[in-house]
Amino acid sequence: TGSLTVLGIETSCDETAAAVVRGPADRQILSNVIRSQFDEHKAFGGVVPEIAARAHIEVLDKIVQQAMDEAGCSFDDIDAVAATAGPGLIGGVIVGFLTAKAIAMAAAKPLIAVNHLEGHALTARLTDDLEFPFLLLLVSGGHSQFLLVKGVGDYERLGTTIDDAIGEAFDKTAKLLGLPYPGGPNVERLAREGDVNRFKLPRPLLDRPGLDMSFAGLKTALRTQAKKLEPIDDQTVADLCAGFQRAVSDVLATRTSRALGLFKDRFPDVQPTIVVAGGVAANAEIRSALLEAAKRVDARFIAPPMALCTDNAAMIAWAGIERLRLGPVDDMAVSPRPRWPL
Ligand code: KG4
Ligand code: ZN
Repeated sequence: TGSLTVLGIETSCDETAAAVVRGPADRQILSNVIRSQFDEHKAFGGVVPEIAARAHIEVLDKIVQQAMDEAGCSFDDIDAVAATAGPGLIGGVIVGFLTAKAIAMAAAKPLIAVNHLEGHALTARLTDDLEFPFLLLLVSGGHSQFLLVKGVGDYERLGTTIDDAIGEAFDKTAKLLGLPYPGGPNVERLAREGDVNRFKLPRPLLDRPGLDMSFAGLKTALRTQAKKLEPIDDQTVADLCAGFQRAVSDVLATRTSRALGLFKDRFPDVQPTIVVAGGVAANAEIRSALLEAAKRVDARFIAPPMALCTDNAAMIAWAGIERLRLGPVDDMAVSPRPRWPL
């Protein structure tokens, strides 16, 4: 295969994004435009689906135009249009996917319906030399899962959270400690000033086999401890943040070691690689815990640049390229899906 140029569109949550990517031979991000709806949702302490969909409608055409301009492309120059068709907040998914469909029809280009999770799963192949199979740990506000990525379209979920996603647990913990949304970065900042040993917090499910995770109990334990000390002072908040972050890091590192062991059993001749993706991958303590877990078993650890770990359209364009390199794609008949397991 030579090189394909694909326009990608992502609107499944609170980022309106468009990007133009070339590949698979030269792997170039020609543009990667993103507009966050942070200000629209801030006052509500979380993403409001209806507001998200309306905000996508308002800006998507301009974001797409900007992505095309920065890439120096016209619609004639691209080989296909790829857009997230799910899973996600359905209003936003509809806005992005139907916009992509309209562009594809008008420009007579193929349309590629990308699963958002597939976008995350394949990103490391855009940024690094990485062959299948590999392990992905996806940790965001909406997802916490271990995926075995065996090929394009060939994914196996090895474990997931049975309650809250990790980012969600960070956000809820922050909220109950009176910290602003989104919680993750604030918890991390305060944890630096905190004493990790002051509070004993549980490591849920750690004694159970498999790769499933649970974070709701951790949050509840933290709330119980916080309640006893009310009104809590700044140092206590920092200590609770430190204890919480350490508990999450421990759980993820232990689970990652187990996932790598499982990988070695199934693919004894392949050096294991663990890729991390999702907003929680920004957390320095979690990153270093994962890196250590990988080192212990001589595995590769890949953390793509943060702008490609969190929601973006370059990953959607890249997933489109990966699909296209395998043969012609025509997803005009596909409907947007709020739920769409890989
Ligand atoms: O991938 P992402 O940007 O959006 C989706 O959820 O799809 O992830 C956002 C999540 C939020 O829950 C946020 O609190 C969390 O990632 N997050 C962090 C950090 N930065 C963002 N969690 C822990 N530590 C961080 N530094
Ligand atoms: Zn995502």
